[in-house]
Amino acid sequence: MYAITVTEPGGPEALTWSEVPDPALSEGEVLVDVAATAVNRADVAQREGRYPPPAGASQYPGLECSGTVAALGPGTEDSGWSVGDRVCALLAGGGYAEKVAVPVGQLLPVPSGIGLEEAASLPEVACTVWSNLVMVGHLRAGETVLIHGGGSGIGTFAIQFARAMGARVAVTAGSEEKLAACRELGAQITVNYRSEDFTERMREEGGADLVLDIMGGAYLDKNLRALRTGGRVTVIALMGGRSAELDLGRMLAKRLSVHATALRSRPVDEKATIVAGVLEHVWPLIEDRKIRPVVDRSLPMHEAPDAHRAMEASEHTGKILLTR
Ligand SMILES: NC(=O)c1ccc[n+]([C@@H]2O[C@H](COP(=O)([O-])OP(=O)(O)OC[C@H]3O[C@@H](n4cnc5c(N)ncnc54)[C@H](OP(=O)(O)O)[C@@H]3O)[C@@H](O)[C@H]2O)c1
Repeated sequence: MYAITVTEPGGPEALTWSEVPDPALSEGEVLVDVAATAVNRADVAQREGRYPPPAGASQYPGLECSGTVAALGPGTEDSGWSVGDRVCALLAGGGYAEKVAVPVGQLLPVPSGIGLEEAASLPEVACTVWSNLVMVGHLRAGETVLIHGGGSGIGTFAIQFARAMGARVAVTAGSEEKLAACRELGAQITVNYRSEDFTERMREEGGADLVLDIMGGAYLDKNLRALRTGGRVTVIALMGGRSAELDLGRMLAKRLSVHATALRSRPVDEKATIVAGVLEHVWPLIEDRKIRPVVDRSLPMHEAPDAHRAMEASEHTGKILLTR
């Protein structure tokens, strides 16, 4: 088969469409014939050599895909999946390829009403948003959630999911175009982080109960100040650095908590639990059109270098797809 490989860690030109061996199926895995994958920020870090795949994962980039089941591996014969099923999947790697081996618990059916290719935009955002807003962040109807980077792949999904849950949604983004897109998706409070202090704005709005954070160290204290009593922060990325001073006094006085999670490195059984929660609670919202995939653009897989350039320039709103 062909896959996008990283010849030497570096810039987008390091991504090359190369002939490689087909994946071998281990116990509990299913072979998927890939229709599309999607670009994630983590793929950029992997390409640069800053985010190596976890032990045992495919060396090729790609944290999600859609496609059709091509073969059932050992121990998956009674899983309920059949050759030819249209699926999408959460991956630890290997989506930028013609075929990928997937632990069976990480497969999801393509939601009704969604195209096979656009389904590749869903697994990573759905699993990240569900696990962080609900399983970790305990978001409830009527609460206010602040989502940083509202125009991102994660942000565009999180806005719609939180609104569907009955939460009030605030976002930050760096351009008026992205803020307008966030409003169109349901965000009620929009803050341009380049011209407005989100902490002040959230205080004027009564404070946030939950912050979904991607900036890490740079926003830690600002996030704590934006929270109301009992508030929570879930950190999912460290785009503004990995460390900062933590004011425990502020946490103690307002009974705050800070969590940080990564999806990719979690054990297969934990991922299966998250995927099962997504299937039960998030998929119906997509099928009822309460959440729609937000796809900025779609490129052929061999043009992965251009897709990475677009992501690094932050030109996109929503997801960037790579198709076969
Ligand atoms: N922990 C996990 O399990 C997990 C899983 C999936 C994704 N993630 C992380 O979540 C983040 C979003 O992922 P993605 O794939 O959706 O990436 P993405 O689409 O490239 O989003 C990154 C976003 O960051 C925004 N941004 C940059 N500086 C900002 C600032 N100072 N304040 C607020 N927003 C800012 C950019 O928007 P502007 O153009 O508006 O600046 C852009 O929309 C990435 O860092 C990714 O690594 C983590």
